[in-house]
Amino acid sequence: MFRLRCASPKTWLEAVLADFDAFLLDHAAAEKKASGMAMSMLSHYPDKPELVEAMVELCLEETLHFRDVVKLIHQRGLILGADSKDLYVNQLRKLMRQGSELYMLDRLLIAGIIEARGAERFGLIAEALEQGELKKFYKAITESEERHEELFIDLARRYFSGDEVEKRLDELLDAEADICQALPIKAALH
Ligand SMILES: [Fe+2]
Ligand SMILES: [Fe+2]
Repeated sequence: MFRLRCASPKTWLEAVLADFDAFLLDHAAAEKKASGMAMSMLSHYPDKPELVEAMVELCLEETLHFRDVVKLIHQRGLILGADSKDLYVNQLRKLMRQGSELYMLDRLLIAGIIEARGAERFGLIAEALEQGELKKFYKAITESEERHEELFIDLARRYFSGDEVEKRLDELLDAEADICQALPIKAALH
């Protein structure tokens, strides 16, 4: 586990709690994208059995998260919206370097950082919610995304040296903090 270099602002949590319906629609989209990302990762590296197996599991788990959020959305009488671009994820993706080795390392580390930010934000929501099913759900989601963070960092360490991982993670965590701090505040995961 590593530490993110900035905490999400209180204003973000306030925006989410003020329009939880909008947040849920975005959360569903984020889970669906996470599931698709896992599948695309394993398609890119079919010759790496550990990675393939880990990504199949991840894809299933993110799809289950998606299913659960869809249920919450439908219970509230809402319907899913069209997919929109995720500025945070797109900005992080721009940091991926060219060259198959560098690209793979960056892809794993950035995926781990996205999971870590998700875990931080779901954790803030879980803490803020009143006792009940929704709070339990966000607590469980937080723990799950924390495990995903570890999974990606473990994969990075499996395929790259500890030094390479630490050095690049350090750079990416600085960049992520800048990106996160510049995000517009809205009732969305990012
Ligand atoms: Fe998830
Ligand atoms: Fe995840």
